[in-house]
Amino acid sequence: MEQLMRDTLLWLSRNRRAERWARRFGFRLGAGRFVPGESLEDAVRAVEQLHRRGLATTLDHLGEFVDCADEARQAADFCVRTLERFADLPYDVYLSVKLTQLGLDIDEDLCMENMRKIVARARDTGRFVRIDMEDYAHNEVTLAIYRKLHAEFGTEHIGTVIQAYLYKSADDIRALAPLKPNLRLVKGAYKEPPSVAYPEKRDVDENYKRIIDLQLQSGGKTAIATHDEAIIRWAKERVRELHVPDERWEFQMLYGIRPQLQEALAREGYKVRIYVPFGEDWYGYFMRRLAERPANVGFVLKSLVKA
Ligand code: FDA
Repeated sequence: MEQLMRDTLLWLSRNRRAERWARRFGFRLGAGRFVPGESLEDAVRAVEQLHRRGLATTLDHLGEFVDCADEARQAADFCVRTLERFADLPYDVYLSVKLTQLGLDIDEDLCMENMRKIVARARDTGRFVRIDMEDYAHNEVTLAIYRKLHAEFGTEHIGTVIQAYLYKSADDIRALAPLKPNLRLVKGAYKEPPSVAYPEKRDVDENYKRIIDLQLQSGGKTAIATHDEAIIRWAKERVRELHVPDERWEFQMLYGIRPQLQEALAREGYKVRIYVPFGEDWYGYFMRRLAERPANVGFVLKSLVKA
């Protein structure tokens, strides 16, 4: 039953008609729990508040699967403006971007041009950009673009994400290791077939530990992005055993999920970075968060009753 609910929510996350319907209800659907606001100033406020609680941040201006070149260029310009807005602010903040928002489905060259503009501005303002990993159909091309940008801008300014649910991920980490890459490791949030991804959660969790272990020993930087307390406990131990220096790894979590755990880890002295999505295009992101934990649908229903 839970699996059916999960599959339905992930299918809805790509359904345009459902999106139009949901957006009419706007933040009343409960999206505000995972998305602090729609404007850049809402994002600045969220970053400031998290900073006061000892938490670093990465910003995601929401949007994905864009099919118009002008829209993709506007998304890139907005990323540049976001970097400029934070240029003189004293926060440990960087940018996370999705290549399908920046024109990947229209033309790879357009996407590269947009990414070069963004990463060049990040370099000039001393910031970092991470390419989020989307569905499997975009996986290889995302890694190829990451490699090109890495060759131009280096590990200090560009990184990407590896998903534990994919069978290929351990091989990808081994292949990237010579770059000493900065990788965020996640379990994976899209609906993928058993031909490419582990269907069982137990296997995903095992592979997650395997790729964390590989990446911690790669000489690159590792962001362990999970709310899974068993994995977090295991990772703390593994980092100690391997003597990984503090500046080479951190925990990451999503805005609004397990906030007490986020703060507790920061109080223990661990570096914790919160992924802060903002903007009007919250639908796909929000539906994936519901699919991760179908119990969340309960609070959506409550918010509909209150509306
Ligand atoms: P798991 O799903 O096993 O959850 C562990 C516990 O965390 C749950 O028992 C619950 O307590 C809590 N929890 C998890 N999700 C919740 C939710 N939605 N609501 C309430 N509680 C929840 N994916 C991807 O494919 N590409 C990407 O680029 C990224 N980027 C990314 C960045 C960051 C910073 C994070 C933390 C995650 C991502 N993800 C991602 C999402 C990731 O793949 C995964 O779907 C979620 O992190 C949920 O998995 P957990 O590792 O938390 O474990």
